[in-house]
Amino acid sequence: PVQRRGYHEKVLDHYNNPRNVGSFKKGDQDVGTGLVGAPACGDVMKLQIRVNKDSGRIDDVVFKTFGCGSAIASSSYLTELVRGMTLDEAGKIKNTDVAKELCLPPVKLHCSMLAEDAIKSAITDYYTKNPKAKATDLSGT
Ligand code: FES
Ligand code: FES
Repeated sequence: PVQRRGYHEKVLDHYNNPRNVGSFKKGDQDVGTGLVGAPACGDVMKLQIRVNKDSGRIDDVVFKTFGCGSAIASSSYLTELVRGMTLDEAGKIKNTDVAKELCLPPVKLHCSMLAEDAIKSAITDYYTKNPKAKATDLSGT
């Protein structure tokens, strides 16, 4: 594996070319916003999903992360991962899935935890705003 300053190649790629950086309007009905922080280091991640209410899938997703390279890479990778997923699928993503893809060392695991927390928090926010969405989801399975 190629490493520079302890960061893995895939981390550097996402860090240098982060995917899906941006924001949606928080008030939009079809948007779920997750804003989470890592107590260990004070880094903060905001992740927003736009959900298609007919398909129940994540149509669009953006993030802004004020944090270390691994946190930025984790959120960038997460946005690629969850696009097109149902909320159920996205809610099952584990930080270890992200850490594995990016080959994060143990000391950087909490950075990928931010990504897991952020997507869960965005999903919760969406359901809070759209309480009926959950019922539709369940009846569809
Ligand atoms: Fe090289 Fe993971 S990308 S070991
Ligand atoms: Fe805290 Fe990476 S060092 S999120």
